[in-house]
Amino acid sequence: MTSTATSSGLIGDAVRERFPILGRRGFPVYLDNAATTQKPREVLDSLVGYYETVNSNVGRGYYGLAMASTEQYEQAREVVRRFLGAEEADEIVFTASTTAATNLLADTLGRATVGPGDQVVVTGLEHNSNLLPWRRLCDDTGAELVVAPVGADGRVEPSAFAAVLGPRVRIVAIGHVSNVLGTVNPVRELAALAHRHGARVVVDGAQAVAHRPVDVRELGADFYTFSAHKVYGPMGTGVLYGRRELLEQLGPYQVGGGTVKGVRHDSPVQYVPVPARLEAGTPNVAGAAGLAAALEFVAGLGWDSVRAHDEALVGQAVAELAAIPGVRIVGDPGAEPSGIVSLAVDGIHPYDVGGHLDRRGIAVRCGVHCASTLLDDLGLLGTVRLSFAVYTTEAELDAVRRALAEVEPGEWTASHPDTRFL
Ligand code: ALA
Repeated sequence: MTSTATSSGLIGDAVRERFPILGRRGFPVYLDNAATTQKPREVLDSLVGYYETVNSNVGRGYYGLAMASTEQYEQAREVVRRFLGAEEADEIVFTASTTAATNLLADTLGRATVGPGDQVVVTGLEHNSNLLPWRRLCDDTGAELVVAPVGADGRVEPSAFAAVLGPRVRIVAIGHVSNVLGTVNPVRELAALAHRHGARVVVDGAQAVAHRPVDVRELGADFYTFSAHKVYGPMGTGVLYGRRELLEQLGPYQVGGGTVKGVRHDSPVQYVPVPARLEAGTPNVAGAAGLAAALEFVAGLGWDSVRAHDEALVGQAVAELAAIPGVRIVGDPGAEPSGIVSLAVDGIHPYDVGGHLDRRGIAVRCGVHCASTLLDDLGLLGTVRLSFAVYTTEAELDAVRRALAEVEPGEWTASHPDTRFL
């Protein structure tokens, strides 16, 4: 792999020109990459290129163009396989998002696996997308949802996790990287503990894939989910990886075109094998092609470079922002940097901080980040979250530091001090 980092450890300026949106007049200092990343030229080209050259439906047409389209779709599956270290391309199911992948699992694996008295274990760090599908499953089936506690360092410690596991656990759902704190869960250790009890391990990789190499087999993940748009790819495409023999037990989920061998009114429906059985309807082929381009882009930068970049930015943010009076870093994002730093400003509502930064041309997310249960446990109304990408620069962080040094209480602090949403 080539190294793209500069002597400061940052990639930043070296890749910015590959992202057309960053050069637009008035485009903000964009630090909401955990919500969605911007797209490099090669991803944009692959989306347009697909529609300009091979657009036709996949897996259905017996003509050259349709076969070229199918080939591009299946090549994208192979790129994802390599990216995740999966054994076979057929272990990769394309979905609409991480959320769609998790709902698919809860409705198939979940309903086939749990019943009254069984347990599903999640962690206290989970985004609603890796919490609500499991919670609804438990509500509907009479199973119990168990929440593994988060340690003071913002990770789930293996010993605390082991303490909540017992003979009734059937599924554990673990966030790889917290979307609020940027902390990295020790997934390999947690998965090994869950497997001792025979539980299936589902890992939400939404915040991990843009920041660290993932090897699903090394992690011991039975299932792994992520979204293309958080790793420089397009919105509307996601991935569900499943270990072959487990994936084969799933589904059908949604049924329709592409899922059956043939249908007769007078005999049982015969479904096709995975992954097609789990991809009813016309898939987002351009999205898959865009995802493949995105994964090749980020892997091509070199993971050592991405890690050095994240370490430099997170280190700078933690050191410089915590030195501003009233600013407190939440959790320990510097322990294993993943491009996220959350902070709170004493006596100032997070929305006032976010509004102040926005007026200075800086885009961040503030609030509960779709993880209000974690914010409750932290005793916080919300946080102000800076999230970085490979194009983030030192100069952008300097702008944040200058702006934060001037923040003052505003309308939210004065009139809605306890209000929170989002
Ligand atoms: N899951 C995304 C976030 O954390 C939207 O902002």
